[in-house]
Amino acid sequence: MAINARITGTGHCVPSRVVTNHDLARLMNTSDEWIQQRSGISARRHVDDGIAPSDIGVEAALKAIEAAGLKPNDIDLLLVTTLSSEHTFPGTAAFIQRKLNIGTIPAFDLRAQCSGFLYGLSVAKAFVNSCQYKRVLLVSVEVQSRALDFSDRGRDTAVLFGDGAGAVVVEPSLDVERGIMSVLLHSEGEHAERLWVEYPSLAKSPHVSPEIVAEGGVHPKMDGKFVFKHAVTRLPEVIQETLASLSLTTPDIDWWLFHQANLRINEHVAGLMNIPMEKCPFNIDRYGNCSSASIPILLDEMVRRGDIKKGQLIGLAAFGSGFTWGGAVLRW
Ligand code: COA
Repeated sequence: MAINARITGTGHCVPSRVVTNHDLARLMNTSDEWIQQRSGISARRHVDDGIAPSDIGVEAALKAIEAAGLKPNDIDLLLVTTLSSEHTFPGTAAFIQRKLNIGTIPAFDLRAQCSGFLYGLSVAKAFVNSCQYKRVLLVSVEVQSRALDFSDRGRDTAVLFGDGAGAVVVEPSLDVERGIMSVLLHSEGEHAERLWVEYPSLAKSPHVSPEIVAEGGVHPKMDGKFVFKHAVTRLPEVIQETLASLSLTTPDIDWWLFHQANLRINEHVAGLMNIPMEKCPFNIDRYGNCSSASIPILLDEMVRRGDIKKGQLIGLAAFGSGFTWGGAVLRW
């Protein structure tokens, strides 16, 4: 019997604390105008003290499970994507599993940075299509604010990133016309150091030290122009490749949910591909770049608003550290 993996429930959680560009301008030499002009971001959310990544991950997960009409114990695989892991080990999946109280099902983290949700979707689809697992919970969660450098030294990255979590439940669909039609993934480790957090590093001795911390080695470092250039090249490539794999063309797609790294990147990509911006909803203005959580947060907002209708085609595309990138098409 033919089946196709389908997203049957979505959820998201963003912390309640809003941090505006004006708030950041009180901490570092930046301005609302500079940030908006370069990225389209006005505000982002930061967690308060005492909130862990797994806390917001669980909130998003519970909403997705409820939307799928399930109970936590119905889930038979938990997959977490994150670049801001709660601890070096075990993975954030262990803490989310414990808080959901979902027994001994397999639970693991997948690391593909801002493309993490697409990588996770690909793994969930493969497990469901092979009938190994039937109800996969995919949680993409990021708490980046605690690792950012809010001094002038870190202003090029600190203004871009935010905290948040998005989750989906993936289950088999007997209607093979609906579901996750295609996910295509790429990576290029050649450029790992262009967007990374160098320390703690088990490639180095000491793996971290007070000097390394003082020099800012534990904060994200980015070659912004290099990342921008590669993103606007790789995204159109993978979008074309994904559409071609299904014999579709850009006008066939009802909605494009791009990773929310920078509104200027998405405008550039849409322009190159003749995609009207009305088909490219965004939330980066409110949440900044939530890395792997950006796409599932946006997806859940659209589903709950009723923007996405049954039968519509949704294109997804993301690019991030690694570099990693990918594209997907869903039939809702
Ligand atoms: N506020 C004010 N000035 C800032 C700043 C900030 N927050 N951050 C950096 N600057 C300064 C720099 O120090 C530099 O100053 P200098 O020219 O005196 O050396 C200048 O702004 C650079 O400006 P510009 O050349 O206009 O930057 P840019 O157009 O490359 O924009 C980014 C910077 C980061 C917005 C842009 O490169 C980018 O979006 N890159 C991709 C980032 C991304 O998407 N990352 C995530 C991928 S998942």
